[in-house]
Amino acid sequence: MKTIILDGKEYQINESGDEPMMQQLVAQGAEIIAACNGAGICQTCAFKPIEGEFTEKSDTEKMMDLPEPERLSCQCLPKTDGEIQMSY
Ligand code: FES
Repeated sequence: MKTIILDGKEYQINESGDEPMMQQLVAQGAEIIAACNGAGICQTCAFKPIEGEFTEKSDTEKMMDLPEPERLSCQCLPKTDGEIQMSY
């Protein structure tokens, strides 16, 4: 498990499972807009890493024109404890 801080709250993320970070954050009560429900299309789940390391960009993320260092929370998992800020 890794601890991710979002808006001052701590969330426990299983970094070795199949469920992306967005779904795990939402399941623990985080308010994340996920218009495409994790399909990697809408970019509403984008976040800026403040601290920590995350898995490499997925092919879906590579095809998108996200401004650095933004990531899609539905397409990655944390590799370390960290802190994030949603982009919207
Ligand atoms: S939920 Fe739509 S891109 Fe992540």
